Amino acid sequence: MKRHKSRSGRFFAIGALGLLLLNGCANAPSILDPQGPAAARIANLWWLLFWMAMAVLVFVFAFLALALFRRRPAEVDAQRAQQRGIRVIIWAGVVMPAIVLAVVYVATLWTMRALATPVIPEGLTVHVIGQLWWWEVQYPEQQFVTANEIHIPVGQPVRIVLSSPNVIHSFWVPELHGKMDLMPGEINETWIQADRPGVYWGECAEFCGTQHAKMNFLVIAQPAEEYQAWLQQQQQPATTPTDPLAQEGQQIFLSANCLYCHAIRGTDAVGNLGPDLTHLASRRTLGSAIQENTAGNLAGWIVGPQHIKPGNLMPQSDLTSTELQALLAYLATLE
Ligand code: CUA
Repeated sequence: MKRHKSRSGRFFAIGALGLLLLNGCANAPSILDPQGPAAARIANLWWLLFWMAMAVLVFVFAFLALALFRRRPAEVDAQRAQQRGIRVIIWAGVVMPAIVLAVVYVATLWTMRALATPVIPEGLTVHVIGQLWWWEVQYPEQQFVTANEIHIPVGQPVRIVLSSPNVIHSFWVPELHGKMDLMPGEINETWIQADRPGVYWGECAEFCGTQHAKMNFLVIAQPAEEYQAWLQQQQQPATTPTDPLAQEGQQIFLSANCLYCHAIRGTDAVGNLGPDLTHLASRRTLGSAIQENTAGNLAGWIVGPQHIKPGNLMPQSDLTSTELQALLAYLATLE
């Protein structure tokens, strides 16, 4: 009775741990929740591997149970037992693993072929550059640059051209496709497609330095019209502020050190070390998708970027609070 109790207790503990682990995943994007054709292929392969591994596990445990609990016959014919043992080794140790590995191999090749870049319509190429630690996003055919936010039209494959001027990063949108590295001195390509409109979480999947964990981005899949409207809006230069406070803010931006690193199209700011800010206010997040894009968060970022992301290239600013207010008013006009 006592033994039975402790065993059920152990099962309970394992079950609870499993639930806890699963619970931790509740809000994370999962490759098992594919939202596009490429991710769906990968998920299919994942499930195949999972069920095959489960079958092997059950088989191994069954043999283990057999070995542990089967009673030895009183008289053992040593020769027959040995022959049986050899048969088991050949079938379970050679033939079955060979079959399992062959199936995995073929299924993997099959999936890889299905993941080859499809025919990409014109105008649907995005260049993504891994910076330390944020994502520069260029739309070469539409001739504008943005950051940490990739907009795509729903239901269309989009070519993603990847490069890095520094270290190796990895581009990963778990719900849309597998990972692809961004290599210094090399150009890699991948593609993404979303079946439904929505916001898909992306992240860097290769350790690239102290702020690797804070190098995220969003993929925003939009219906065709909405996507076209976004493109048109992003192509526009920044509007000149009319509000006096915002005008003052613009002067501060252009006279402080901001313009050495940031560009705002339509002004003298053409720096390219940091994110292009032409339409900063239209973006959902700050700091590579680590904070919501609100006035408070933006103020916190400008005042103390090294507190939020130690080691990033943006220096502390020494603006007074009135200057900061004006600067925020200006940045809020960059829609
Ligand atoms: Cu970039 Cu990790």
